[in-house]
Amino acid sequence: MDESFVALQFKEEKLVLLDQRILPTHVEYVQCATFEEVEFAIRDMIVRGAPAIGAAAAYGVYLALKQCSGETDFYQACTFLGQARPTAVNLMWAIERMLSVYEQCKIGGRPHALRRLLSEAHAIREEDIRTNKTISRIGNRIVPDRATILTHCNTGALATAGWGTALGVIKQAFYDNKQIFVYADETRPRFQGARLTAWELMEAKIPSKLIVDSAAATLIRDGKIDLVILGGDRVAANGDVANKLGTFALSVICKAYGIPFYSVVPVSTIDFAIPDGSAILIEEREATEVTHVQGVQVAPTGTQVYNPAFDVTPHQNITGIITERGIIYPPFKENIERLRRGESL
Ligand code: MRU
Repeated sequence: MDESFVALQFKEEKLVLLDQRILPTHVEYVQCATFEEVEFAIRDMIVRGAPAIGAAAAYGVYLALKQCSGETDFYQACTFLGQARPTAVNLMWAIERMLSVYEQCKIGGRPHALRRLLSEAHAIREEDIRTNKTISRIGNRIVPDRATILTHCNTGALATAGWGTALGVIKQAFYDNKQIFVYADETRPRFQGARLTAWELMEAKIPSKLIVDSAAATLIRDGKIDLVILGGDRVAANGDVANKLGTFALSVICKAYGIPFYSVVPVSTIDFAIPDGSAILIEEREATEVTHVQGVQVAPTGTQVYNPAFDVTPHQNITGIITERGIIYPPFKENIERLRRGESL
């Protein structure tokens, strides 16, 4: 069963994005006709979630080639797009994939290169949906019937080109008639859990409750959670996972109470070049995300703020990493290397 909404579409030479800054109270679309508008949409989180920003950037590269007459300008535009958000590797992964197609086909002339880039952007978007469905079927194996699942941030159709990763696994289990129950962390400060995951869970009619982030520890201690399933923005070669702030704390609590903890990612989220999580650049966002809630000031004027958007969960706290190629279990370093070499898991 698919969603009635699409986070990201390309229509009449424009990238059309469901505005995730204002969901669920306002359902509005933003149109991006230039790479600058795509960059802004990613940076301002009109579109967000690692796979979704990768797909959006792919269309941004196509628009950049349309706009730029010289190759230097085109490459500068791609660098600019790649800097919109630094943590999720899918952004650079998609841009590099587009640039490699450009390098292969530019000899055929500009109209040819434009056609090839547009079809590659479509391919990235369509592959992401197929990948998510495969991930979900694989991930469903670790979801017991009657499981109560805790999830964090938003990893559904909104965070991807469609269907979702961790939330895709949850939906697959539900549509497979497993009687699951989901607790969704609200996910301060941007409330992706409250605004987006709660909305997607309701749309899918999955029984669920929204909790404030700090309630998770009590639920886990009291034996109310069977497993935690969430996403990932960049996985290092040793299995350390950068994901939405709060993931690390959840992993520590799960480890203390012996609760299975899974990260769900497409292989494009694995950064084989990064040896461990310490090399992952963590995005810090503006103070107003913390001092203000939906535009209303809650902290004293002038308060100093530390606002990292992500944190790194050490691989020792992770039960498994679910991908379209299978579930990666410890020893993560060895098994991620096998994945890189194309071997089966
Ligand atoms: O800041 P966001 O909303 O882009 O962060 C999103 C997350 O952290 C998700 O868990 C991750 O990108 C995986 S989305 C399938």
